[in-house]
Amino acid sequence: MNKFYGRDFLKEEDFTADDLKTLLNLAAHLKRQRQAHTETPHLLGKNIVLIFEKDSTRTRCAFEVAGHEQGAHVTYLGSSGSQIGKKESIADTARVLTRFFDGIEYRGFEQTRVETLAEYATVPVWNGLTNEWHPTQLLADMMTIQEHAHAPLSTQKLAYIGDARYNMGNSLMIGSAMLGLDFRSIAPKDLWTSDAVYEKAQALAKESHARITRTDNIEEGVKDCDFLYTDVWVSMGESDDVWKERIDLLRPYAVTEEVFQMTGKAESKLLHCLPSFHDRKTTIGQAIYERFGLPYMEVADDVFESKRNVVFDEAENRLHTIKAVMVATLSPTLPC
Ligand code: CP
Ligand code: NVA
Repeated sequence: MNKFYGRDFLKEEDFTADDLKTLLNLAAHLKRQRQAHTETPHLLGKNIVLIFEKDSTRTRCAFEVAGHEQGAHVTYLGSSGSQIGKKESIADTARVLTRFFDGIEYRGFEQTRVETLAEYATVPVWNGLTNEWHPTQLLADMMTIQEHAHAPLSTQKLAYIGDARYNMGNSLMIGSAMLGLDFRSIAPKDLWTSDAVYEKAQALAKESHARITRTDNIEEGVKDCDFLYTDVWVSMGESDDVWKERIDLLRPYAVTEEVFQMTGKAESKLLHCLPSFHDRKTTIGQAIYERFGLPYMEVADDVFESKRNVVFDEAENRLHTIKAVMVATLSPTLPC
């Protein structure tokens, strides 16, 4: 039996650093097979349910396409149309879905909700994003860094710039600490990653020889970085009332070409989990422009449209890494 079989993936630390590397290798193997049209289906006859209490493009499509390509049947439950939360508790939902399905994906609000789901379900539960963690995104991010760096992850310098207290700020800090990167979290102090996550990362870094830094100084933070990562300034589930305060705090932290120049690395690349406000071509982007005069938020459009951008490779890698997680946890033997 492979060591991932039957396990949940609720946050990065559910697995060891070696486990994360194994999943990245499996994702690369599955990606090569898909490109060569030689993919072997490991999930024939499996039924998978996807619970999305928040919206999604990439995560939903990655789970659906990965499931279909591996031979599974996929059922989608959105934020309305099921009994979840309104008439049926998470615990009861978990016990019902366990009788129908071989695996459960959950995207929603507090991490405690996905933990309760996993406690009551007897099949693997995968976290497709909570307020606190986004572990399947972290895998895709690390896969993309590996592909573009052509070097071990432990040689790479990565900076995250923006709202560092939320899911991506947390997952990137812990993931980097486990995998040995030089990681800089750059944010105004009010939006720093919590002390608890930072201290956990420092403890993990002792094993991996990672370097983990929190700073509010952009120039110091990005110096020598190979990758700059940013995310939206207001996340799903947050109140619209926070826009003004968040824009006031983060306006100086937008990722522009000037910030890339501060890395001192001509080839440094842009990462972003997406979706991104880099122009006014969305209803929210246009509304923010009308209210605050910002033509972009977390990343400037000229950077987004430049050769620095590897975010669409990163988006594609959601498919391969999510496929790896499902195959590893649902298939008794690992394909490689
Ligand atoms: N990056 C990410 O999770 O995208 P979606 O919200 O579209 O799933
Ligand atoms: N921080 C963002 C990530 C989206 C993938 C959010 O939670 O909305």
